[in-house]
Amino acid sequence: MIEELIKRRSCRKFTDKTVEPEKIESVLKAGLLAPSGKNKRPWEFMVIDNREKLEKISKGREHGSAFLADAPVAIAVIANTEATDVWVEDCSIAAILMQMEAEKQELGSCWVQVRNRVTPDNVPTSEYIKDLLSIPLGYEVECVIALGYKLKERSNNNPDDLLIEKVSYNNFSNSYF
Ligand SMILES: Cc1cc2nc3c(=O)[nH]c(=O)nc-3n(C[C@H](O)[C@H](O)[C@H](O)COP(=O)(O)O)c2cc1C
Repeated sequence: MIEELIKRRSCRKFTDKTVEPEKIESVLKAGLLAPSGKNKRPWEFMVIDNREKLEKISKGREHGSAFLADAPVAIAVIANTEATDVWVEDCSIAAILMQMEAEKQELGSCWVQVRNRVTPDNVPTSEYIKDLLSIPLGYEVECVIALGYKLKERSNNNPDDLLIEKVSYNNFSNSYF
């Protein structure tokens, strides 16, 4: 796992190569295997490869989402907010597990934040996307994960550059390392 974590970097530029359905399936299974509070599994995952929809989703934020327009495929991470009060945590865990499985499948991925963000017209991005994707009442969109083959490998995370001072031992003022 550490090896994959060192390798994983956000990827925002993809080749045109179509992502094989088996790879998408594998990524989705990682999300579906995610732990959740009280095992409520409040998430829903929507696979989106419709170019028009991806283009529209890419416009759901002023900054930070434009690259979705050129992503071969994306997965919207949606929560049933009535199922649990920890849907943010549950969805975040599922999202990062899908990103890690993407890495394992030699795909690049990037998280696009939706929750608590707004469109350039100040409409909540979640409302904008819910409308576009016919998501019913009682659901929220936490994020959209872009997926595809990496156009370029980025440099690995540097294991010698970890913020080890953020780890304490028995007392907040005692360093662990
Ligand atoms: C909760 C969360 C929200 C993020 N939102 C965005 C986003 O909206 N757009 C974007 O391009 N990247 C987004 N990212 C990716 C981060 O910018 C990225 O993970 C961070 O800069 C570290 O870079 P790395 O992933 O290459 O290690 C998000 C990541 C997380 C975990």
